[in-house]
Amino acid sequence: MKPPFVIAVDGPAASGKGTVATRLGEAYGLPVLDTGLLYRAVGVLAQRAGLDLDDEAAAAKIAAGLETGLLDDPGFRTRGAGEAASRVAVHPQVRAALLKLQRDFAAHPSVIDGRDIGTVIAPQAPAKLYVTATPEVRAERRWKQLQGQGEAVSYEDVLADIRKRDERDGGRESAPMRPAQDAVLLDTSEMTIEQVTDAARRIVEAARARW
Ligand code: DC
Repeated sequence: MKPPFVIAVDGPAASGKGTVATRLGEAYGLPVLDTGLLYRAVGVLAQRAGLDLDDEAAAAKIAAGLETGLLDDPGFRTRGAGEAASRVAVHPQVRAALLKLQRDFAAHPSVIDGRDIGTVIAPQAPAKLYVTATPEVRAERRWKQLQGQGEAVSYEDVLADIRKRDERDGGRESAPMRPAQDAVLLDTSEMTIEQVTDAARRIVEAARARW
């Protein structure tokens, strides 16, 4: 039997994968799950509860009790939230607690973005994209986005954050960020959003033709 038409969109911080996922969701009329938001929520809620982000069991408890209805908290979109997310995301127990929710979503046609979607969450996905860009380009994009949100931060600090996050997300033992063997790489460093969207759609069309 054919697996459900899931589009897995992985890649590092600020690569444009969120935009790609949203655009693909609109184009194909599919629901979109931003899995980074799950880890952001766990990180921020742990911090608000005064917990140590290195405390795996405590963070896993928060992950297990996460209510998806509460994910639109603007506090989950800040620079600090991304860092907290990356820190709690190293814990296998946290990843395990978030697994069912993600797998349930992947049981239906959908677009899912994250770091380990093509490798761990939905390895059977018929369409897999790995969206990248140079750290400098990603830092520039993220810096502009943070400025738009009124966060006062220097470009250099954002670049340092991005490098640190790449290292942590790609270097962890549990479900490290990496392209699945059958993922198509999309380097967006020198592309506009329109070009990225077109390229992503072509990749998905090719996958759909094979499906
Ligand atoms: O996509 P994002 O920047 O919102 O993700 C925030 C952090 O969450 C990221 O640095 C690592 C973690 N994450 C993860 O480990 N696995 C995912 N599928 C999604 C996010």
